[in-house]
Amino acid sequence: MDFNGSHILSIDQFDRSDIETLFSVAEKLEPYSLRKKVTRVLEGAILGNMFFEPSTRTRISFGAAFNLLGGAVRETTEIGSSSLVKGESLRDTAQVLSGYSDIVVMRHFEDGSVEDFSKASRVPVINGGDGSNEHPTQALLDLYTIEKELKINKKTIDGLRIALVGDLKFGRAVHSLSKVLSLYSNVTINLISPEELKLPPSYLSQLKKSGVVVNESENLEEGITGVDIVYMTRIQEERFKNKSDAIKYKGLLSLNKEIYTENCEPNTVIMHPLPRDSRQEANEIDSDLMENPNLAIFRQADNGVVIRMALFALVLGVVDKIEDTSRDISWHTSKRH
Ligand code: NCD
Repeated sequence: MDFNGSHILSIDQFDRSDIETLFSVAEKLEPYSLRKKVTRVLEGAILGNMFFEPSTRTRISFGAAFNLLGGAVRETTEIGSSSLVKGESLRDTAQVLSGYSDIVVMRHFEDGSVEDFSKASRVPVINGGDGSNEHPTQALLDLYTIEKELKINKKTIDGLRIALVGDLKFGRAVHSLSKVLSLYSNVTINLISPEELKLPPSYLSQLKKSGVVVNESENLEEGITGVDIVYMTRIQEERFKNKSDAIKYKGLLSLNKEIYTENCEPNTVIMHPLPRDSRQEANEIDSDLMENPNLAIFRQADNGVVIRMALFALVLGVVDKIEDTSRDISWHTSKRH
């Protein structure tokens, strides 16, 4: 894909060479995301960070990524504080925001809304999650994390065995991740969910068509046996017509030290897009796994910054200019990995 000026709406836009390009730019940007160096390459640029649904990681990491490249961020965090409540169409909002920003990131509760918005936008738009449809940048940071974590044990994404666990019906993070994994060879995906929350047929058939070995199960112990990665997810209660229906699925699939130790390999990596629901009735990842070095959830969240920096640098066409304004940092920073 030609990143320059492109909207990033779906993970389907990426092929393997695009992913390699993105990851190599991310490597180049690590000194900046780790606060060893500063660059001002996007000085003067403005990001419109439009979040019409709750978000902590995605919103802040997009904003931090833009700031770390020297750009400024303007944001709306609630539909109630934007003109959408006055009946403004997404397309009008897009026209207006394009006049104020150089690039827009948008999260919205309706499937397809970000694409609709992008049609009226004069600046590139990045999908920060549209309903239960897609979350392409989450898939990219997940894939980057998977590659890094596997490398420690001299493994690659080709040959990966992964368990996707939880709400596979509504979880946009697993939708985008499953699609991107189909670009790799020899991949086995164990889909573990309650019957009613299975991965929708369109994603399933894309996986099978591309040669991914898929096993479906409702049983956590069985599904996590022999995998390299266990990818836990939250029951997406906000997507249920009747919220009280979500309650019956909470806590059905929760990972703890005992289940992990009995069924996983010693170096099986645990991931989760976060937020994990830590309330007692859900408790997707028990606190008794906190000390486990294979718990990669916070390394995964950290990777969101560098991947989003790389995406901005590519879409705004500044990859070759990053070094021009580079200097060492001058303030105290905590040690990062
Ligand atoms: C995910 C999302 O919003 O889809 N969170 C995130 O962006 N890291 C997953 C979730 O909310 O469960």
